[in-house]
Amino acid sequence: MDIASLGIAKVHGKLYTVTKYNDSVYGEDIKRIEKAYFREWEPKRSKIAAAILKRVKELPFRKNSSILYLGASTGTTTTHLSDICTEGRIYAVEKAYDPFVKLISLAERRENIYPILEDASIPERYAFFMDNIDIIYQDVAQRNQVQIFNANAKAFPKVKDAMLILKIRSISGKGSEEEILKREMAKIENFRPLEVVNLQPYSKANYLIRLKRT
Ligand SMILES: C[S@@+](CC[C@H](N)C(=O)[O-])C[C@H]1O[C@@H](n2cnc3c(N)ncnc32)[C@H](O)[C@@H]1O
Repeated sequence: MDIASLGIAKVHGKLYTVTKYNDSVYGEDIKRIEKAYFREWEPKRSKIAAAILKRVKELPFRKNSSILYLGASTGTTTTHLSDICTEGRIYAVEKAYDPFVKLISLAERRENIYPILEDASIPERYAFFMDNIDIIYQDVAQRNQVQIFNANAKAFPKVKDAMLILKIRSISGKGSEEEILKREMAKIENFRPLEVVNLQPYSKANYLIRLKRT
């Protein structure tokens, strides 16, 4: 995969997103090279960075992509997507108030982040004001992760590409990872898996599923 065309650099084994913002969001290192800033993208803090280092075959993001991000938390991964999708929008849905406050302050400094304080399991509450979404990215760490994904896939019928993080131990503490992964993937509706990336050693029992609408 050509990560350079997405504004992602890999230098001495470390990943960076290239950005105009000189703003460390979670304590990550920032280097200035000529007029751009290189923000280190830490794979233990961000599952997309982990997937890149685990050689995911493709990422659906483009400069002008608009992303529905479910489970944005304090904006770690959101801001790296904001660095990549400079001409698009990141709609960052988060249901917990404390991380949402951080998202608001990030949105004040970055023009392409739109925080939404909502429950991702009820997409009817936000789908009506977004008609331009290209990609769904979900990382919600809930027992009903696939059900939440299916609800959003249905509420956004024009979306063709998605990436779903399956956090196995939020689904069940019993059974093998493989069994739970297989069972949960079989529940995914309207999308078919193109690739499954095990995020070990960066993130234990977490899998990134790259999906395409059927
Ligand atoms: C693993 S963290 C996300 C980390 C984040 N994706 C990142 O890489 O920076 C999961 C987040 O999902 C949020 N969450 C869980 N269930 C949710 C729901 N139903 N709707 C919206 N957010 C939810 C949690 O509050 C938490 O902040």
